[in-house]
Amino acid sequence: MSLLLPPDRHLGVIGAGVMGRTLLRGLFEAGLLAPEQAWAAAHSQETCDEVASELGIPCVRDYAALLDNTAVLLICVKPKQAAEVAEALRRGGVRSDTLLVSILAGVTIARFEQLLEVPIAWVRAMPNTPCVVGAGMTVVAPGTHATEEHLQLAERIFSSVGRCRIVDEAYCNAVTALSGSGPAYMYLMMEAMADAGVRVGLPRDLALQLVAQTMLGSARMVLETGRHPAALRDDVTTPAGCTIGGVLMLEDGKIRSVLARAVEEATRIVEQLGKTAK
Ligand SMILES: NC(=O)c1ccc[n+]([C@@H]2O[C@H](COP(=O)([O-])OP(=O)(O)OC[C@H]3O[C@@H](n4cnc5c(N)ncnc54)[C@H](OP(=O)(O)O)[C@@H]3O)[C@@H](O)[C@H]2O)c1
Repeated sequence: MSLLLPPDRHLGVIGAGVMGRTLLRGLFEAGLLAPEQAWAAAHSQETCDEVASELGIPCVRDYAALLDNTAVLLICVKPKQAAEVAEALRRGGVRSDTLLVSILAGVTIARFEQLLEVPIAWVRAMPNTPCVVGAGMTVVAPGTHATEEHLQLAERIFSSVGRCRIVDEAYCNAVTALSGSGPAYMYLMMEAMADAGVRVGLPRDLALQLVAQTMLGSARMVLETGRHPAALRDDVTTPAGCTIGGVLMLEDGKIRSVLARAVEEATRIVEQLGKTAK
């Protein structure tokens, strides 16, 4: 299987940082893209050299000359660099039949369309870092000029590094706060639970493995059985048993509202981040 790019047209990644490199690696490993069909761009020469040796693809600071042969551009810079990239694309004469995919937190397609001043197909995507191990969660949302084919192409790209769903763009900030930031919440909970294991006498490495595999297994139970988490929790809680005692302590600590407030606060900050794309 391949991405089925038009003949002699390439995929470029503008912003070869953590996410940009992860996506390229995922596409190569899934066999959807050959290194000779890809290029990348970064701000510093140091990053360019690192990426070229790590991934075996051209990585440049000035990509204007590469735009004409490019069918898909993944934009993976920070939100505050949106205007700089739009300016570079405009000056470089980006082709109107290029698909532009932005993973920038908070930056709307309307903002990009306004910055670029060229009618072109945009897809906004929100992946997360578990894409590194092929277990990412991404949503993709179409812009005004994106066709069903553009959307399917974007879906194929992100499905190479995990699961992918198509959503309305209105959900993107909330998704960023929930699954984009979500790994950080999970790591925090895992760290706290591993500490708890140490508190009750377990060696740290054993405690961490128990917690990580338990989180992975529980996630798979939700995804693969399709059962409600509350029903799955009921299966673990025997009357007057230890689990219901532990659950009660979590409820006393207001864990539900703490988690909800965390996602609410992250959503508010994402909205602000989008405003840095001046
Ligand atoms: N990290 C996450 O969990 C995550 C999840 C979902 C979405 N995102 C989004 O993904 C984007 C990138 O995040 P990241 O964590 O991958 O950041 P990152 O590691 O800092 O990567 C950003 C890259 O952009 C390059 N860059 C900066 N200005 C540029 C320019 N004008 N032209 C070309 N390249 C330029 C930087 O080059 P240098 O290395 O030379 O400075 C760097 O390699 C952000 O917008 C973020 O909102 C991140």
